[in-house]
Amino acid sequence: MSVKKVVLLKGDGIGPEIVNAACGVMKAVSKKHNIDIEFEEALIGGIAVDEAGEPLPQKTIDSCKAADAVLLGAVGGYKWDSLPSNLRPERGLLGIRKALGLFANLRPAKIFAPLKSASPIKDEIIGDSLDILIVRELTGGIYFGDKGQREVNGAPAAFDTECYSVPEIERIARMAFEFAMKRSKRLCSVDKENVLESSKLWRSVVKRVAEEYPEVELTHMYVDNAAMQLVRNPKQFDVIVTSNMFGDILSDEASQIAGSIGMLASASLNGDARGLYEPIHGSAPDIAGKDIANPLATILSAAMMLRFSLDEPAAADDIEKAVADVLNVARTPDIAEDGIKTVGCTEMGRLVENIILG
Ligand code: IPM
Ligand code: MG
Repeated sequence: MSVKKVVLLKGDGIGPEIVNAACGVMKAVSKKHNIDIEFEEALIGGIAVDEAGEPLPQKTIDSCKAADAVLLGAVGGYKWDSLPSNLRPERGLLGIRKALGLFANLRPAKIFAPLKSASPIKDEIIGDSLDILIVRELTGGIYFGDKGQREVNGAPAAFDTECYSVPEIERIARMAFEFAMKRSKRLCSVDKENVLESSKLWRSVVKRVAEEYPEVELTHMYVDNAAMQLVRNPKQFDVIVTSNMFGDILSDEASQIAGSIGMLASASLNGDARGLYEPIHGSAPDIAGKDIANPLATILSAAMMLRFSLDEPAAADDIEKAVADVLNVARTPDIAEDGIKTVGCTEMGRLVENIILG
């Protein structure tokens, strides 16, 4: 049996707490399934600025490149908010995505049955279940386009640029079509084609790639309409493919529909098995260190890692099932419910471990 190497990037705020909980769960599931994982820690974000002078030290990039997969907590905090933009913790996150070529970000928004009442959307709209997969482009668009400051009519001004090349759109579209093929064969491409040149190109390339997938029913939607439809009738969606910024926004919206932002996992992939896994939420500095954060999104990210990077689908299933079960007996404060015990981050992790180990 070969040893798999996983780098832990705990980061800032609640990052260390949630990664510790997820790491405990990975150890439990590895024991049960006889998987040999070696964990190594590396610095990213504000803590990396404090300890190494930059948000993404080269050493971290090298460790991640040499690993089978990376598990990341979160970056950022008040302490670093006023640093120049090249030293902001968020730069570390964008930098590692770019350095590893992680162009595809999968963000599944799924309602666990016991959490249905946590969703602000009415029961009759949600029905029995909700399971949407957002495929967000992650290394292009306005996040990485030309940006800067200049003067406009003598006044200080700033700009960012949304730019997508044909190959960048093709590869994310293909990834989304592949996932649609494995699911219900429905794909909705979200853009702003009525206004943006980059969206016009996006739509035309997605249409062309669609010819390779005649079985998939492709629809297109403007992003403003998509934001509205997600609340009005989320069940019309199965797989959504969209740009970096639209995906950032729509996935936060989808997470709330699914009950709590503390529940949404994500996988960032580059087309081969290596990937980076992280909850979609941020570092929540207001609750950091209090042991009240919800570790389930990170635990579910670890499940995605076992599925996509470590080729251990049975272990992934075990984690996902344990998360579904734990919600009946314990809740962190963000998803608390009368009659169910409220627990902290560490205890939530332990409970998931116990369910896995039986
Ligand atoms: C996310 C986050 C990041 C993003 C921030 C922290 C840079 O919001 O992963 O969704 O915008 O991609
Ligand atoms: Mg976001």
